[in-house]
Amino acid sequence: MNKRSIRGVNVQGKTALVRVDFNVPTRDGVISDDSRIRAALPTLSLLKEGGAKIVVCSHFGRPKGQIVEEMRLSVVRERLSEFLGVPVLDAGGPNGDEPTQICSQLDAGEFALLENLRFDPGEESNDVDFSKHLASLADLYVNDAFGAAHRAHASTAGVVDHLPAYSGLLMEREIEMLGSSLDGSQGATVAIVGGAKVADKIQVLRHLAEKVDTILVGGGMVAAFYVAQGKSGGAAEVTTEDAEAAKSLLDSRGAYVVLPADVVTAPEFSESSTASIVDSSDVPQNELILDIGPRTATEYARIISLVNTIIWNGPMGVFEWPEFAKGSVAVANAVAANKKATSVIGGGSTAEIVGSLDLVDQITHVSTGGGASLEFLEGKVLPGVAALDDAE
Ligand code: 3PG
Repeated sequence: MNKRSIRGVNVQGKTALVRVDFNVPTRDGVISDDSRIRAALPTLSLLKEGGAKIVVCSHFGRPKGQIVEEMRLSVVRERLSEFLGVPVLDAGGPNGDEPTQICSQLDAGEFALLENLRFDPGEESNDVDFSKHLASLADLYVNDAFGAAHRAHASTAGVVDHLPAYSGLLMEREIEMLGSSLDGSQGATVAIVGGAKVADKIQVLRHLAEKVDTILVGGGMVAAFYVAQGKSGGAAEVTTEDAEAAKSLLDSRGAYVVLPADVVTAPEFSESSTASIVDSSDVPQNELILDIGPRTATEYARIISLVNTIIWNGPMGVFEWPEFAKGSVAVANAVAANKKATSVIGGGSTAEIVGSLDLVDQITHVSTGGGASLEFLEGKVLPGVAALDDAE
């Protein structure tokens, strides 16, 4: 990555404002997955060991510029403190005098966490005064929030105009892993792309088609590809636009696009709906495609076993329902089983799949970005990355 890294910078006695993405999922106020907090620890520890005073900031949910009690960062602050093994002060704010006072009292190696950045409307509007306020709390800025890098907000973009800016270790790794998975440098590359709608994934598919050798398609969007081939897509609503998008991909001269030879269908979009395995040419008009079929899962696993690089974004079916999760489970196991390959999971629900199957340790890199990794795979420039200072 050609952005200036925090690695090796003398931070002794300096205050570092560290933007992280602690937008973690919660259930009844309890954190259900703390991967994003754990992923920021190497950068935070590096700064602590270097003798910096560390002001951490993040958004949490979408409070839309207002204080929403359930979206306070206290639950995240407690977990962060547990991981770091030291107290993390509540810096309050995020705007106003309180953070200024608390942050100015930090000693080397101490941490404070600002309140949810999105409680201030200036965060999402990338307001100059709010950016200046954030910058006034520190001597340098470190962006480790890959998950929020697709947002041009005060804490991800604006603040960079007022402080020396560096990328954190997580940010570096995300860009390096996602980037190298697409550059073909490691030999044969397969992209596995799933998801409900072709419209949501067509930009990713187009970009990947230029970059990889083979694309394996799964998920509800298979219906659009079948319609594009003149077959039945079942009961799913496939618009002319969707079918044309699918057709343009099939007709393009990029990667070899593999569609499921069989699928699992059901009469209703329901967990208990009766599942049937049908050939790609026999999808009943009144049934929905809810997973790839067993023959396809075996074939996809075979292709996955042959390549050197794997990139996966999007489930193969309705993973939340056991009857329609088998395709995603087979693909996840196949990705984990290919030990010679570099495997990169493009965040969001795909990360949840490998997490729930306890396969994270067997994957080279599981991205912490949902929307951010999707936009990266679409080939878009992420504002939070673009804003960082270039390496010399
Ligand atoms: C995410 O969860 O993908 C990031 O934290 C970004 O959140 P947002 O979509 O609310 O900007």
